[in-house]
Amino acid sequence: MSPSSSAGPLSSGAFYQRWLGPVLARDDGLDAEQLSRTALTALGQASLRRRWPGVSTVLDGVAADLQRRDLRLEQVLFGCRFPNPVGLAAGFDKNGVAAGIWDRFGFGFAEVGTVTWHGQPGNPKPRLFRLAEEQAALNRMGFNNDGAKALLKTLERQRLDPPGRRPAVLGINVGKSKITALEQAPDDYAASLELLSPLADYAVINVSSPNTPGLRDLQDTSQLRRLVERLRRLPACPPLLVKIAPDLDDESIDAVARLAFEEGLAGVIAVNTSLNRLGLEQRRLSQTGRTLAEEAGGLSGAPLRQRAQEVIRRLRASAGPALPLIGVGGIDSAQLAWERITAGASLVQLYTGWIFQGPDLVPRILDGLLLQLDRHGLRTIAEASGSGLPWQD
Ligand code: FNR
Repeated sequence: MSPSSSAGPLSSGAFYQRWLGPVLARDDGLDAEQLSRTALTALGQASLRRRWPGVSTVLDGVAADLQRRDLRLEQVLFGCRFPNPVGLAAGFDKNGVAAGIWDRFGFGFAEVGTVTWHGQPGNPKPRLFRLAEEQAALNRMGFNNDGAKALLKTLERQRLDPPGRRPAVLGINVGKSKITALEQAPDDYAASLELLSPLADYAVINVSSPNTPGLRDLQDTSQLRRLVERLRRLPACPPLLVKIAPDLDDESIDAVARLAFEEGLAGVIAVNTSLNRLGLEQRRLSQTGRTLAEEAGGLSGAPLRQRAQEVIRRLRASAGPALPLIGVGGIDSAQLAWERITAGASLVQLYTGWIFQGPDLVPRILDGLLLQLDRHGLRTIAEASGSGLPWQD
């Protein structure tokens, strides 16, 4: 496949920028949550009908534009074969409606959820804000999702291939229901995971979203250990990863790395959105008139990038080379993906950058990674992970 196939005037990237570029260049105008919901409704229908002739032709066209198949990008980590190291981060496809087609958008893996045992509406709207100039977002969604039983049905209806035989790896990210007391959290997570395990290539314990009161306390080592040990007792448990916040101090990051080793976790995902305002304290939201310092919610996108990079570096130093790390936070170019990988991540995930840049960000990153492998004389992306090798123009 030609590396430049996503650059043509009819490409997915050009189409996206033409129609959504003007919308994404402003904070106000079309509501960010409504836009995502509309896109997901269409993608959900396409996933259900992806084997119908007309639909599959369209999806094949998208895949021809966005996928890059190259053995140098492939890795086997915690028993899963990742066709490439770029994934869709949790929170975009919370209810897993498009789980059957994320590979068509070029992703090597996709994480659905966060799902909670009890379906819940989340926080009052508006709860998702675009910060166009900063290429960032503030969200306080609050785990709005249809619940674990609904996710099971949604995934079953899509007739996915079984774990291990899918074109892209599927992760399921699990959180605590709002109505469940913190002391009961292990049973709440366990109920979701027990139901969904058979469909997951890997599972993520989300203890880092800032929008569920008390949730981040579960990052404390004794609580996290209790939670992991409860999930480990499930009859069948997929590889378990934990997702951490960017706001942990260095000692707490080291403690998570130690716990991951002691408890045999499959990996750590760093990072979730930040409660820190990262230099944007006085930035006013046009929708509410209040500053970010006054608004609740987690910050994502470009302002998070530096801290996300530091956390990966710290985790890699304290965990040693064996623990797989997934780097997420502010990645919107091949260079940033390369730098996150060479700092220690094996895989990266995209959310805010993917929304702003559009679907051709994935092939641009994959092409860029392949070029760097060539420039450094490396055979596989696994050799780049943690190598500290710089980006070469
Ligand atoms: C998120 N994120 C998120 N993470 C998670 O583990 N569970 C979730 O439900 C959500 N929901 C969610 C909603 C919205 C609107 C955003 C913007 C983000 C966090 C996301 O997966 C990622 O960790 C951060 O956004 C940082 O990456 P980016 O966005 O800077 O690439």
